[in-house]
Amino acid sequence: MSEATTTHHPATAWVNLDRIRENFQALRGQAGGRAVIPVLKANAYGHGALEVARALEPLDVAMFAVAYVDEGVALRRAGIETPILVLTGFAPPQLDAVLEFRLTPVVSTPEQASALVALPHDEAREPLAVHVKVDTGMSRLGFRIQEIEPAIHRLEDAEGIRIEGLMTHLACADEDEDATRKQLDLFDEAIMRLETLGVRPSLIHAANSAGMAFLRPSHTAVRPGLLLYGVTPRPLAPPIVVRPAMELRVRVALVKGVSAGTPVSYGGKFVAERDTVIATINAGYADGIPRTDAMRTKGFVRFGGSVLPVAGTVCMDLTMLDASGAPRIAAGDEITVFGDAPTAWDLAGWAGTNAWQVLTGVGSRVPRRYSGA
Ligand SMILES: Cc1ncc(COP(=O)(O)O)c(C=O)c1O
Repeated sequence: MSEATTTHHPATAWVNLDRIRENFQALRGQAGGRAVIPVLKANAYGHGALEVARALEPLDVAMFAVAYVDEGVALRRAGIETPILVLTGFAPPQLDAVLEFRLTPVVSTPEQASALVALPHDEAREPLAVHVKVDTGMSRLGFRIQEIEPAIHRLEDAEGIRIEGLMTHLACADEDEDATRKQLDLFDEAIMRLETLGVRPSLIHAANSAGMAFLRPSHTAVRPGLLLYGVTPRPLAPPIVVRPAMELRVRVALVKGVSAGTPVSYGGKFVAERDTVIATINAGYADGIPRTDAMRTKGFVRFGGSVLPVAGTVCMDLTMLDASGAPRIAAGDEITVFGDAPTAWDLAGWAGTNAWQVLTGVGSRVPRRYSGA
């Protein structure tokens, strides 16, 4: 490949599948015999759902989770055979796809229960496994506690439906013990109500990454996303040993000197205080570098041993750095935007957001390249 081509290589998200496997095994250890359901929604938090599913499937995963029917269909079409839980459930017209692609929908509303109950009975088809969701405090998806029994009755009476799971979602397992305790108490009540109806789902789950990191293991399964990708649910979470699986690396497009007093980027908010070396890198906010004031004033990247502060407003495709501390930097050099350092949480701090958004914010035009495949 010629130098000219290399220097214009776009940003690349390097994904280390070995680390994802290792993180998964660490989560399994932490889960102590409970089923670990890796969450692969949003293209596996930007890591590539199919690649992650293919890396994990040989490890005998009980079930994957995605957000939408379409995400599950894409995995099936690509040959993934592991059961797939669809976290947001389905719209009634999608039920044919749910059946055809053997997806496991979450049931959250009376309308979804009605659609399932109305399915034509077909002796030849395997019963459709579903997970029933209880809203214990997130006020998002899920039956309220008083709606659970009627819903279970209806689903139990329906031919061709099997209640395989009962689940809830924790709103603040990493920050509010009391609120989490209340949610778990309500979930316990839902489990008991099912038991009194003689329904004992094999997969009962509540814990996301924060639940795994901050609570004692409970129920029969867990649903981690962020931890699988090697990022803890808080910048300094308790030590479950996981390592970041994604590194966003970007080439330097060009390096130039500007004299003291020169404004840099939109709005001229950065003005060189002295003669300054500006390195422009081939990635901007469309690629996952947040465009916020804090990114402009506090953000930095590392190059070799040097820290290069962001200089001026992040653009859509490009970001300028004050590279005065790295005299050797040249077009074509590669810098790390986030990964082991700076971390996704560093970037999140500058962006005023969280690590989930940093990972899922890596643009779709950024090529993913894999190691450990
Ligand atoms: C229902 C559900 N379960 C599990 C997860 C995984 O969460 P986390 O990435 O915090 O582990 C999510 C993600 O938002 C979710 O929506």
